[in-house]
Amino acid sequence: MAVRDILLMGDARLLRTAQPVTQFDSDELHLLISDLLDTMLAADGAGLAAPQIGVDLQVVIFGTNARNPRYPDAPPVPKTVLINPIIMPLVASLQDLTPVEVEDWEGCLSVPGLRGLVPRYAHLRYSGFDQYGDPFERTVEGFHARVVQHECDHLIGKLYPMRVRDFTKFGYTSVFFPEL
Ligand code: NI
Repeated sequence: MAVRDILLMGDARLLRTAQPVTQFDSDELHLLISDLLDTMLAADGAGLAAPQIGVDLQVVIFGTNARNPRYPDAPPVPKTVLINPIIMPLVASLQDLTPVEVEDWEGCLSVPGLRGLVPRYAHLRYSGFDQYGDPFERTVEGFHARVVQHECDHLIGKLYPMRVRDFTKFGYTSVFFPEL
């Protein structure tokens, strides 16, 4: 168990497409998840992906039980270990087959001190495995859906600034949210 260094934007290891996990319930995997949790908690993060600590595997963790000082208005998201994830955007109705997108503010522990307004799918279903290799699936919306998309983006080498459309809404947390 250890708090690991978080890689910062510009590091080429954040731009890789992560490898799927093939061995579940191993000492190595449990240690990785323990390190991810320790590192996320130490940084008050809402989520963390293995590539952010330099590990090239499709493993993310996320969750906010108590009020998170980095996201004080966010509703709680269950503590989750998600491995080899698949995300499926859901359409709002069969009349309109375009998945609904919503914009909201995001930050990232690999992009410290900054926030940006990022479009994400509003409703989605995601599936994957826990650390024991047990499959699970959830249908979510809102902040939970946003966190999943943000973390899974780390597994395909995408950081949220690459998703920002309106760069007038990308800048320093201290300017946009001086209370944080
Ligand atoms: Ni991030």
